[in-house]
Amino acid sequence: HRDRVRAVLSASPLVPVITLNHPDEALPLCRALVEGGVRVLEITLRTPHGLPAIRQLREALPEVWVGAGTVTGVEQYRAVEAAGAQFVVTPGVTGAILEFGLTSEVPLLPGIATVSELMMGYALGYREFKFFPAAVSGGIAALNAFAGPFGDVTFCPTGGVRRNTAKDYLALPNVAAVGGTWLTPKEAVAAKNWGAITEEVRGSLQDL
Ligand code: 3PG
Repeated sequence: HRDRVRAVLSASPLVPVITLNHPDEALPLCRALVEGGVRVLEITLRTPHGLPAIRQLREALPEVWVGAGTVTGVEQYRAVEAAGAQFVVTPGVTGAILEFGLTSEVPLLPGIATVSELMMGYALGYREFKFFPAAVSGGIAALNAFAGPFGDVTFCPTGGVRRNTAKDYLALPNVAAVGGTWLTPKEAVAAKNWGAITEEVRGSLQDL
């Protein structure tokens, strides 16, 4: 379980958090992200298009990791497993999801914002977490503070991370990757300006 979470987090320093508003967007949008250099895609379940897109992207883009985001319950976890998701991200933790993640073939990156939430996962053996919502939960200062008592924990901060702050987060020894929606600007997606998305990824990677 841990090896697979680490493989995902080390595959790409930038993890786009993708919410699809139309089924036809999935492939061109994700192709544009991959062309820019992204190796991990987090497809959220915030719209009904997320689940079928996971299935579609697994087939179309075998060279990248395709995971599910905004998974908030065990039923959703089972659904994305069946759709072929290679990892699961949750915004927060429940005992049920943490337990289920241990038994699943599909590794879980649980979301935490506080030390107590982290400890719920830590007690079960989790050492990799999404830190969400990162910016409003203390950002870099919080991550530095977590490193004291939890020196063996690695984070993927997400929520309020932007192109101009990604580098500062990634400079921390306990940060393996950062996530966010800035790589998929709404206007560019609406205009099907896939080239702009590829450029945003390239530029963001260069800025690191
Ligand atoms: C998430 O669920 O990870 C967030 O929606 C990403 O937050 P952002 O829009 O601030 O990048």
